[in-house]
Amino acid sequence: MTWEELEHACDTCDRCQLGKTKTKTVFGCGNKNADLMFVGEAPGESEDLTGEPFVGRAGKLFDKYLEAVGIKRSEVYIANMLKCRPPKNRDPLPSEQDECIYYLREQVKLVKPRMIVCLGRISAARLIHPDYKITKEHGVWVNKNDYLMTAVYHPSLLLRDPRKKEEMLADMLEVARRLREPD
Ligand code: URA
Repeated sequence: MTWEELEHACDTCDRCQLGKTKTKTVFGCGNKNADLMFVGEAPGESEDLTGEPFVGRAGKLFDKYLEAVGIKRSEVYIANMLKCRPPKNRDPLPSEQDECIYYLREQVKLVKPRMIVCLGRISAARLIHPDYKITKEHGVWVNKNDYLMTAVYHPSLLLRDPRKKEEMLADMLEVARRLREPD
């Protein structure tokens, strides 16, 4: 499947009900040959309105971490587990995740990143292991299906609990260090 085919399929998707209430599909964006891919949870209001991932308050905070560790947003690929906004930002239902993960898997196949970093517990539970404990396991790296993977705190959590910002910076510094490490 090509990028165009995948994006079109996603835009016209009716695998779950969220397509009916969304404003825009938030497919994902960035470098399609990136070594590093970030996977968030689901679009919020600003993302739903613009069609771009991580552009709201949490996204602005995430951008600060990227800048702080010397990663350009344009050099990575950023996507979410869900491509359509759940009403009132409720947690994605397992059934919505089951349907939508198809698009993420195809994106991963196309990008072929060396590293995948989950933003928050929801994507970590889906992509790393089901009972992922973000407070205990954030920043722990695993090798899964030939991808180097970890999870960091979701930037929305950092907005609610700024005490976790130091740990986030340490995790993001390690993401950057591994990104610059020769293969
Ligand atoms: N939260 C997410 O998980 N993804 C976004 O794109 C925005 C907020």
